[in-house]
Amino acid sequence: MDDVNRCDPCTGLCEIVPELAGIFKALSDPTRLRIVHLLATDTTGTLGVSDLAEQLGISQPGVSQHLKTLKSEGFVTSRREGFHVYFSFNRERLAQFQDYFDLMCGAVMDRCDRELVRKTTQQAALNACVVFYSYTGVTREVADRIRNACGCDLVEVKTVTEYSAFTAYTTGVLRSRRGICDPILPDVIDVSRYDLLVIGTPVWAWKPAPAISTAVRALKGCEGKRAVVFVTNRGQPGEALPLLEAALATRGVEVAAAVSLTKEDLAARTAENDLIEQIVKAYPLPAGNGGSVRA
Ligand SMILES: Cc1cc2nc3c(=O)[nH]c(=O)nc-3n(C[C@H](O)[C@H](O)[C@H](O)COP(=O)(O)O)c2cc1C
Repeated sequence: MDDVNRCDPCTGLCEIVPELAGIFKALSDPTRLRIVHLLATDTTGTLGVSDLAEQLGISQPGVSQHLKTLKSEGFVTSRREGFHVYFSFNRERLAQFQDYFDLMCGAVMDRCDRELVRKTTQQAALNACVVFYSYTGVTREVADRIRNACGCDLVEVKTVTEYSAFTAYTTGVLRSRRGICDPILPDVIDVSRYDLLVIGTPVWAWKPAPAISTAVRALKGCEGKRAVVFVTNRGQPGEALPLLEAALATRGVEVAAAVSLTKEDLAARTAENDLIEQIVKAYPLPAGNGGSVRA
């Protein structure tokens, strides 16, 4: 298997931490948050220091001081018109803060997932392999997160003939509906050395994408192993999970858990955390360590 990768622990968080600290400091004061609220909900575009002071019931120098802090962190901009200076809220900076905050939350969740794996299995890395197909990258993102949490190997399956945006929805959908397998690379996937398999695919026409059906047939040394399967979709998984389970059963693989994920689940990370939990539960623990746990 050539397409095997290892965990890269860097999330890029280290670069934004100093900036996040400044942002949190700027937003940590109730009066400044009220100024943010007033500016963000203002429809006139003509709020000045005196208006803000009046609405907040504090002195003008006090407002100026708070505005200075918010300006220094990029949340507030000002414009001069004659003798007047008007203040506005910078929405782009808030969007940037949200991105930074999401990155921080994601890193914390990754850490929690790793901790869950380590606590339950008493191993930092699981001897597991994620075999997946991804056309637009969503399933690959899930596979990457599983690798980050479990330290397992990844095998990304590619179709020999790549689909275009047009052929995916014409030929691809038709092949999926008819249960036709796509030729793939690698054409043999040796999983004999793994304790657990994780199989992931996008849903195409309410079924597993054709490439993963081929991947199930291409598994070598899978008999008697346990698997967790997941499908990514836009809310209509149809029969994809039961079909994938049935295909694996014909290869002697027992499916311990099956999870369906949408993009929203990925953003909220709720169902995805459940997937990591299912993987951990399905992982066969060595004898004397509580035995094997079933999902
Ligand atoms: C050809 C094609 C057919 C699809 N059919 C379905 C479907 O039946 N139900 C559904 O919920 N989503 C469907 N989708 C959406 C994908 O399943 C979803 O966006 C998935 O997360 C994409 O995963 P990927 O980025 O790993 O390819 C389809 C997408 C494509 C390209």
